[in-house]
Amino acid sequence: MAGFTYIILLLSLYTTFAKDCIINRVPEQMAFEKQLRKDLKCGYHVFDPPFGNNTTSEINVRFVMKRFSFNSDEEIFSMQSWMFISWIDERLKWDPDKYYGTTETELTSMSLWTPGFRLFNSADSNDFDRYYYVWCRVRNTGLVSCVPKITHEALCSVKLTNWPYDQQECKLEFGPWSSKWSKFSMNFTSRAITMLGAEYGAEWFISDYRQEANFSSEKQLTMYFTLEREATGLAAIVVYPAIILTALSITCLFLDVRQNVRLAMISFSLFGHYYFLRELMDNLPKHSLDSPNLLFYYRGSLILTMFIALFTFLLDAICKVKVTPQNYFLTINDSVYESFGKYFIVPQWNLDDDTIKNKQFSEDWTKFANIINSAFNVIIILTYVILYCVLMPKPIPINY
Ligand SMILES: *[C@@H]1O[C@H](CO)[C@@H](O)[C@H](O)[C@H]1NC(C)=O
Ligand SMILES: *[C@@H]1O[C@H](CO)[C@@H](O)[C@H](O)[C@H]1NC(C)=O
Ligand SMILES: *[C@@H]1O[C@H](CO)[C@@H](O)[C@H](O)[C@H]1NC(C)=O
Repeated sequence: MAGFTYIILLLSLYTTFAKDCIINRVPEQMAFEKQLRKDLKCGYHVFDPPFGNNTTSEINVRFVMKRFSFNSDEEIFSMQSWMFISWIDERLKWDPDKYYGTTETELTSMSLWTPGFRLFNSADSNDFDRYYYVWCRVRNTGLVSCVPKITHEALCSVKLTNWPYDQQECKLEFGPWSSKWSKFSMNFTSRAITMLGAEYGAEWFISDYRQEANFSSEKQLTMYFTLEREATGLAAIVVYPAIILTALSITCLFLDVRQNVRLAMISFSLFGHYYFLRELMDNLPKHSLDSPNLLFYYRGSLILTMFIALFTFLLDAICKVKVTPQNYFLTINDSVYESFGKYFIVPQWNLDDDTIKNKQFSEDWTKFANIINSAFNVIIILTYVILYCVLMPKPIPINY
């Protein structure tokens, strides 16, 4: 009984929807276009290329970038763009006079032969461009144009030496997807891509573009993008602290070793180094062979600060020595303090201090420690200057 009801239901549906239209409201032009599409599809084989293996055939290609992203952890550059493709298909020509003057129509890419492209350095295991369903415009001259929206993902290796002010170059290598039966070459202008403001991404921006064409190789179009990291935020977290810690460590050099404030500041600087090294590790995109120079700067600065701490202990101990210094030391003291050399003793620690009078520190030993400290300061500051020049990352100058 249930089956019978279903049959009745289906029959009633059939009679409702499958009735021939009595009133035909389709405009005449549309009817002609419908007929045109039918005629174009007649005898058309989607898999037959329009130009056989004639390599002189050209497919016009142009890109309009919508957005891009660059994942420097995974080294993947991805670009989303409208790809404007057009070519001549002789089989799709018609006489407009026979079709109410219709000069263009639209067909889906499913019912047409469409050219395929390859992205040679694709991050995907499949390097074939896939666009299954787009509407393509067909003109009576046989010109077919399609605009698929495609995301291309390419591998792009990252060099972090100058991180966070690093600059990377990523490329997209395109070529035709040719087979034995269809060979063609790509036709593009000297700048195949338009960016229209899409060059400002989330973390990166495209600062330069160039392209190479080589029609004797498979990779006919290579597009090179120069990317720069938006480093302002990162610099505030990892670069400026390095400069401040350097200033702190150098300031310590000018403090009196006999006072605890020098030791306290050195400890604070050491802690700061440890803290910001942790911060740097958290922000570093990846651990690779080419570690950022900034990391080596921190390392160098940390070692120098530890030296300053050790020297502070040593000099403090020298100042506290109770035995009378040997003549040897006194000669050094005299030759420095009673000559032009005394101007080079910076800083000169207070000698008529209570502590000297209370015999807690010896005057001669303090003078001697002062000389050593000055020499040591020069070495440390020079090392810092070299470290800064060689290892501190500098922002990339802006070229207009
Ligand atoms: C091109 O196609 C023709 C037949 O259409 C064939 O004879 C010829 O060998 C082909 N050439 C190449 C390079 O495949
Ligand atoms: C190649 O592209 C240029 C610029 O888009 C165009 O002027 C030229 O006609 C194209 N060549 C062919 C054979 O389509
Ligand atoms: C073009 O590609 C061919 C084949 O890969 C190569 O031998 C040639 O050097 C390339 N030409 C240029 C200008 O890069």
